[in-house]
Amino acid sequence: MPIPQNTLPVPRHLAVIMDGNGRWAARRKRPRMIGHRAGARAVNTCIDFCLEHGIGALTLFAFSSENWGRPEEEVGALMKLFLNALEREVDELHRRGVRVRFIGERHRFSTSILERMQHAETLTAGNTRLHLSIAASYGGRQDIAMAARALAEDVAAGRLRPEDIDEATFGTRVALSDLPPPDLFIRTGGDTRISNFLLWQLAYTELWFTETLWPELDADTLRQAIAAYASRERRFGLTGDQVAGLATHIPPEAAAR
Ligand code: FPP
Repeated sequence: MPIPQNTLPVPRHLAVIMDGNGRWAARRKRPRMIGHRAGARAVNTCIDFCLEHGIGALTLFAFSSENWGRPEEEVGALMKLFLNALEREVDELHRRGVRVRFIGERHRFSTSILERMQHAETLTAGNTRLHLSIAASYGGRQDIAMAARALAEDVAAGRLRPEDIDEATFGTRVALSDLPPPDLFIRTGGDTRISNFLLWQLAYTELWFTETLWPELDADTLRQAIAAYASRERRFGLTGDQVAGLATHIPPEAAAR
C-alpha cells in the first residue's frame, strides 16, 4: 500500500498566503503600498529559506481573482510593484537555479506584465533547484472550473470518455499538476482560512497559521512552521499504525513519490 504523499520532515512543496501587508503599514501610519513593498522583500526571505533548506517547490499567493476589486489606486500600484519586481529579480533568480512560473488568469494583466511573465518563464524554464509558482489573478474555484471545462471539451471532441474522468485525470488539469501537492501551507497575518487558494491541491496539506504579518516574516518564523510540520502525523486517511508500519518498510525515497 503506497503512502500517497510526503511523510518526510522537510516539505517538498510549500504554499503560502502572504497576508498582513496593509496592517503592517497601518501600524506605522504609512500607506498600504509601503506594506506591499515591504512584503516584496519578505518574498526574498522566503525564497532564500527554501533554497537553503532544500524545499523544492514554493507557491505564493500574490494576487487573488478577488483582489481586482480593491481600490483602483492599490491595484495599479500593486501591478507596478509586480512589474518592477519581475524586472529586478528575474536574472538573480535564474542565476540561483529558480524556475519561475505564473498560475491564474493571465489575460487580465497588461501587455507589459504579460511580456515580463513570459520572459521570466522562458528564461528559467530549465531550472530545477526551486520551482517558484506565483499565483496571480488566481482563484481555486476558477482553477477547478477551468479543469472541468478542459475535460468537457475533450469529451465533446471525442478525445475522452466521461467514464475515464476520475480524480487522477482531473488532477492533471488543475494548476501545478506536474508538482507534488503542497505538503505545508502557511498563512501569515492571523486569519485562519484558505481564501480560495489551491482548493484541489490542498486536500491533504498540513495547515499552519501565524499572527506574524507578512512583511515581518523571518527565518525563525519559517523554522517554527517547519518544526510544526515535522511534528505532525500525516495519515492520508489511514490509521496511525498503518502509517507507522509503512514508514518502517518503505525507504524514504519511495515514500516521497
Ligand atoms: C495581502 O495583504 C497581500 C497582497 C494582496 C499582495 C501580496 C503582494 C506582495 C507580498 C508583494 C509582492 C509580491 C511579489 C510576488 C513580488 P493585505 O493587503 O490583504 O494585508 P491586510 O490584510 O493587512 O490588509
